[in-house]
Amino acid sequence: MRHLLSTQELSRPDALQILDTTEEMAAVTEREVKKLPALRGRTVVNLFFEDSTRTRISFEAAAKRLSADVINFAAKGSSVSKGESLKDTAQTLEAMSADAVVIRHGASGAPQRLADSGWIDAAVINAGDGTHEHPTQALLDAFTMRRHWAKVRGISSVGSDLTGLRVAIAGDVLHSRVARSNVWLLKTLGATVTLVAPPTLLPLGVHDWPVEVSYDLDATLEAGVDAMMMLRVQGERMNAAFFPSEREYSRRWGFDDGRLAKLDALGLKDTIVMHPGPMNRGLEISSAAADSSRSTVLDQVRNGVAVRMATMYLLLSGSPAQSTGPESSERKKS
Ligand code: NCD
Repeated sequence: MRHLLSTQELSRPDALQILDTTEEMAAVTEREVKKLPALRGRTVVNLFFEDSTRTRISFEAAAKRLSADVINFAAKGSSVSKGESLKDTAQTLEAMSADAVVIRHGASGAPQRLADSGWIDAAVINAGDGTHEHPTQALLDAFTMRRHWAKVRGISSVGSDLTGLRVAIAGDVLHSRVARSNVWLLKTLGATVTLVAPPTLLPLGVHDWPVEVSYDLDATLEAGVDAMMMLRVQGERMNAAFFPSEREYSRRWGFDDGRLAKLDALGLKDTIVMHPGPMNRGLEISSAAADSSRSTVLDQVRNGVAVRMATMYLLLSGSPAQSTGPESSERKKS
C-alpha cells in the first residue's frame, strides 16, 4: 500500500492490518508518554483546501505522536483555478521533501490526481474529497465498531472483523463521503448496511451499492440495529431544498429522544449511536442521544488519532524500501 485514497480499493488484509496496528497505536496514546520515534525526520504536510477542525487536528496529533515534522498548509481561499493550484502546490511540497501529504479537497478525485500525477513522490492520504471518500473516517468508525462488537461477542478485537454486525447509516447520504467510505469498508469487513434517508438525499445508483435502502427510520430500528450512524445534514453542499423544513427533517430522519428511548423499549441494549461530527444538535441527532451512554462520538474522535497514526506508520515505515535511513533521501534526489 503506497497511498490511502479510498476504502473501495482497500483490500481486506490491508484493512485488517490497519485496524490491528491501530490497536497498538491506541495503547501508545493511553500511555503517559504518548510518543513513538517511528517517523523521526519525516515530514507530513496537512494540505487542507476545505474547512476542518477535528480531522486536521487529528492528523496533526497523529503525526506528532510518531515524531514526524508537521507542516499545516491551509490552502483554502486561493484564487488560482483548482487544477493549476493543486499542481503548483504539489510541486512546492515536493521541493520541500514532504514524505506524506494529507489532502482534503472540495473536488472528488483530487487526492487520486495528486497520487497519479507524478508531481510528487510522497504518500498521499485522502482526508476527504468532495462527496467521494473519507477513508480514515471509515477506518476509525470500523475500529470503534470492531472494539464494541468484539466486547459484545466476548472475543478479542485483534484480528476480528464485523461479521454479523447490523449497521444503519441515516441522513444526508447524497452529500456524504463518510457514508460512501463506510459502505465499502463495512462490506469488506462483513457487516450488513442499511441506508436510511429521504429519497431526495440518496444518490442516483444507490441501488447498485452493497446495501439495503430504507425510507423509514423507525422500521429500520424495529428490524434490529447494532450500530446507528447519523450523518450531518451538509447545508454547505446543498443548493436546493432537499426537505420541507428542519422540524420535519428531525421528526422523520433525526435520532431524537423518542428513538433513543425506543432502543430500550426494543431491548436493543448493546446498540451504539455514532456520528462523525460536527453535529447539528437538534437536527439529525438530539443532545440527549449525542451525550447518552450509547453515544460513541468521543470514542470516534479518540480512535481517529490512533487510526491516523497506524495509517502514516504503515505508509511511511511499512516497507524496507521506504526506510528512514539517509539512503531514502538519496533515493528521492535520484
Ligand atoms: C466529515 C467530513 O468532513 O466529511 N467530518 C469530519 O471529517 N470530521 C463529516 C461531515 O462534515 O459531516
